[in-house]
Amino acid sequence: MALDRKAPNDLNAFWMPFTANRQFKKNPRMFVGAKDMHYTTSDGRQVLDGTAGLWCCNAGHCRPKITEAIQKQAAELDYAPAFQMGHPVAFELANRIVEIAPKGIEHVFYTNSGSESVETALKLAIAYHRAKGQGGRTRLIGRERGYHGVNFGGISVGGIVNNRRHFGTLLAGVDHLPHTHLPEQNRWTKGQPEHGAYLADDLERLVALHGAETIAAVIVEPVAGSTGVILPPKGYLEKLRAITKKHGILLIFDEVITGFGRLGAPFAAQYFDVLPDMMTTAKGLTNGVIPMGAVLTTADVHDAFMDGPEHMIELFHGYTYSGNPIASAAGIATLEVYKEEALFERAAAIAPYWEEALHSLRDAPHVIDVRNMGLIGAIELDPIAGEPTKRAFEAFLRAYDKNILIRTTGDIIAMSPPLMIEKHHIDTLIGTLADVLKTLP
Ligand SMILES: Cc1ncc(COP(=O)(O)O)c(C=O)c1O
Repeated sequence: MALDRKAPNDLNAFWMPFTANRQFKKNPRMFVGAKDMHYTTSDGRQVLDGTAGLWCCNAGHCRPKITEAIQKQAAELDYAPAFQMGHPVAFELANRIVEIAPKGIEHVFYTNSGSESVETALKLAIAYHRAKGQGGRTRLIGRERGYHGVNFGGISVGGIVNNRRHFGTLLAGVDHLPHTHLPEQNRWTKGQPEHGAYLADDLERLVALHGAETIAAVIVEPVAGSTGVILPPKGYLEKLRAITKKHGILLIFDEVITGFGRLGAPFAAQYFDVLPDMMTTAKGLTNGVIPMGAVLTTADVHDAFMDGPEHMIELFHGYTYSGNPIASAAGIATLEVYKEEALFERAAAIAPYWEEALHSLRDAPHVIDVRNMGLIGAIELDPIAGEPTKRAFEAFLRAYDKNILIRTTGDIIAMSPPLMIEKHHIDTLIGTLADVLKTLP
């Protein structure tokens, strides 16, 4: 039977991720095409992409350069083993990633997703200390409300209760810092909030509790996205860096959403001018087109493993698809599009307009906070009493009916448009959202 790309077939077999499956299958929402800032729906509408897919299509959709690179690579070298064999494209991409990474980041370990990047970084942290003769450093520290993907390490250091509570005992030896959401002090702040740097001091409490010699790493999102956009207060990340350094603890920035221009700089590490020991990435690395992730490390982390006889494998970790040729080709083409179109700079230039547009919703019905940074925006809604998440989900459905794609988490609307967004798109997105908010229960 020919594949029908335009009409839904039987919806039963596909168990959809992070989806209200029964609700969806009664009333499906299907995309069948995409170009630049828009999706095409199965009923022929153009929907403005306010979320870059899932925070990943930073260069916009179906960009010819990326499409052609994938086609060419698929015809030339479809797959090469990643263990004990190589191919030039993966090496070239790694060099180009290092070129745009903060000074001090020198190595790239490939994965296939953000979740795998997180697992990889956590394992690297523990193995790094072992290689340095500090095998007692196994404890991992995350943060409340953190999102680090869905695998066991990631949900253990993560702090979103629904992602954790159904899945047993998780990893042992994990602790959490407090989140940095302080609505009483920071509500309506534009950009980076003033209050809350002191929350990083909680790491000293954990060090006092467990002993620094038991702690391998701290992992945080520089800007927390999936929990509903929580920003780092001024001075907070700097403090975390200082405390981790003081105690010999590795600092991992989970840059899966902040990487590749989301804040108007290549990475959040540059935006905040704080250098972590490792950065986890995915999404914008290939513009979301082909699954690929990467852990970026300093020379210090990498070199700790480069010991022992040269014929020995240094790190017993990797994936069948690490550095897959087609994904690598997509990555190179994506980085070229970012560069040729100066998309990171464009994001930085339009960010103030984005900020003003978002904050114009301050007096809209149900809005209790607005947060923004770079091309990230969050509109927090007052939950319906006794029915958390319902109001925002209703906003999502009504927005889709009005041809804009937004995302909701809890009662927060989160937006992260492609970096090619123009002012008139912002006007449409925020204007339509204002109309939607007026109609909400
Ligand atoms: C900060 C962060 N880390 C990890 C992930 C997981 O990425 P993936 O869904 O590619 O596994 C995400 C996904 O949204 C993320 O935002």
